[in-house]
Amino acid sequence: SGMFTYDPGFTSTASCDSGLTFIDGEEGVLLHRGYPIGQLAEDSSFMEVSYLLLNGELPNKTELDDFEFTITRHTMLHDQLRQFYQGFRRDAHPMAIMCGVVGALSAFYHDSTDISDPDHRKISSHRLIAKMPTIAAAAYKYSIGQPMMQPDNSLSYTGNFLRMTFGVPAEEYEVIPAVEKAMDRIFILHADHEQNASTSTVRLAGSSGANPFACIAAGIACLWGPAHGGANEAALNMLREIGTPDRIPEYIARAKNKDDPFRLMGFGHRVYKNYDPRATVMQKTVREVFDALKVTDPVFDVALQLEEMALNDPYFVDKKLFPNVDFYSGVILSAIGFPTEMFTALFALARTVGWVAQWNEMISDPGQRIGRPRQLYTGPAQRDYVPIGQR
Ligand code: CMC
Repeated sequence: SGMFTYDPGFTSTASCDSGLTFIDGEEGVLLHRGYPIGQLAEDSSFMEVSYLLLNGELPNKTELDDFEFTITRHTMLHDQLRQFYQGFRRDAHPMAIMCGVVGALSAFYHDSTDISDPDHRKISSHRLIAKMPTIAAAAYKYSIGQPMMQPDNSLSYTGNFLRMTFGVPAEEYEVIPAVEKAMDRIFILHADHEQNASTSTVRLAGSSGANPFACIAAGIACLWGPAHGGANEAALNMLREIGTPDRIPEYIARAKNKDDPFRLMGFGHRVYKNYDPRATVMQKTVREVFDALKVTDPVFDVALQLEEMALNDPYFVDKKLFPNVDFYSGVILSAIGFPTEMFTALFALARTVGWVAQWNEMISDPGQRIGRPRQLYTGPAQRDYVPIGQR
């Protein structure tokens, strides 16, 4: 039928107007509200980038202090929400817990259902950004059988998250500045990425007027998949499986073989047909974290050599497949001490800012309508019902 544009995977459909994030995939450019990701990752903080994405401009000192104060005030979880965790098996994937717990937030904040009120939208947005570290850290603590840590609001957003993850109530936890900086940078690199699958999911869920906690839970569910946020976990698992540089050619050959479903995880991107600018920063950060922690990991060598070999192989050159944000992030997160299962939860934590900012932008748009794609029907033509005895 000629009535609709058929665009599976939405490779050529713009679903909305947005003033948040600009990507030039051919050139490998990523801007948030006009600012290059490299500059933000180097000089800004995750809280500042969050403010920028939500409000459109960088904050001045007072605005940033106020914002951090507001976020800090919402870091605690309702005590009954903490009990929610007990319903999960200890071996539950943290993303399963995140979907459930974030979705359940709507049951605690009834003001979130009136999304026409900008003040309600604002407080829900702040709650989500503030509680995500507490929720993610608690999922980790639950999986290893340690008590959940209460937030310490004297710390930075990221320092507090590290303490809730790696600290224990019995001991002081010392935040290592270089690790805090690296973690904060990883959050910046994941904060937003225009209309990717999970963000589009949040917008589509939100277009029906659903409350923001439900919408973000939908985004978390979408992010979980290995083609999207799950790639950071899959990438490190792949690098560990390769193990030593001499085995790289075997994996490159598999990735090129059309009869083998295997793909190089952390490689390729729907939009970037050039080096992902986030991967550049990520690669640099690996070295910084290794230096700060005085550790190293043979898997980094495997990653570097895999990258070099792939970028010199006609298959990857012709298809314009480059390392993406997920290729090196796992190496850093693992050095900091996170188990691979937590990687995608960290992505969700950071992307919450982008989801929330995009959701707000959509709801504030007077022309906003429910998202309702059409289809090309391929089923049977009309036919008469046949009673069961005659089938
Ligand atoms: N390894 C080997 N071949 C690949 C890879 C890869 N990682 N990625 C794409 N290709 C090939 C693919 O087989 C196809 O070949 P052909 O044209 O001969 O059929 C061609 O390149 C285009 O791939 P596609 O699947 O049509 O591209 P897409 O835009 O639908 O998918 C992608 C993009 C990111 C899902 C894909 O590149 C992929 O699966 N990469 C591995 C998973 C990954 O790293 N995902 C993280 C993406 S960035 C962060 C995020 O979004 O969360």
